[in-house]
Amino acid sequence: MSDLKLSGIRACVFDAYGTLFDVNSAAAQAKDALGEKWQPLADLWRSKQLQYTWLRGLMGRHADFWQVTGDALDYALASLNLEDPALRERLMGLYLKLSAYREVKDTLTRLKAGGMKLAILSNGAPAMLAAAAENSGIADLLDAILSVEEVGVFKPHPSVYRLPAQRFGLAPGDMCFLSSNAWDAHAAKTFGFRVLWCNRFGQAPERIPERPDGEIATLAALPGIVGMA
Ligand code: LAC
Repeated sequence: MSDLKLSGIRACVFDAYGTLFDVNSAAAQAKDALGEKWQPLADLWRSKQLQYTWLRGLMGRHADFWQVTGDALDYALASLNLEDPALRERLMGLYLKLSAYREVKDTLTRLKAGGMKLAILSNGAPAMLAAAAENSGIADLLDAILSVEEVGVFKPHPSVYRLPAQRFGLAPGDMCFLSSNAWDAHAAKTFGFRVLWCNRFGQAPERIPERPDGEIATLAALPGIVGMA
């Protein structure tokens, strides 16, 4: 149990991929076709997907996250000698039905019962986020699903982190931002949120500006930290 407490939090804003939704679960569900390459495929797909968001942002060549996710999958399949149109289509379909991590629904339910406003803030295209939220049974718990498509540039561009304040009419310091992607947590802190890094995979801290207010292993710790134990 953590001693960390954050008082006065009125909204919790969650990153989607890797934080609420298990990005490995698409490749994991295609193990029958991928065999022992499922984990290398999942890792390469994810890392290329993120690199392409950063590169497109710097190049000023935005395309939505569905396009970028498909491009990254094509790169990963080609790198691992797995190119196959039917397999590609299957994996993209599975990406719309990612599993939520096991504590997610219960955690959001507890926060909602305590009167907390809840939102997703994600790179995901609106249709991708709606599908994942619906599939994992959390859509009704969310007050807002905010996509970078509203500003046309990916995280960590500062204009993305402005969206929750605009939607809820709250100061960033009255909101807690949660991400398992440490770079995303640092970027949100730059904007003034209170921030928890959900370090699901025991990763080393990033060496970039700002620091999250705290670190948790899963989201289950969150209700206690914001006073809703
Ligand atoms: C997102 C990526 C960063 O959901 O995971 O925005």
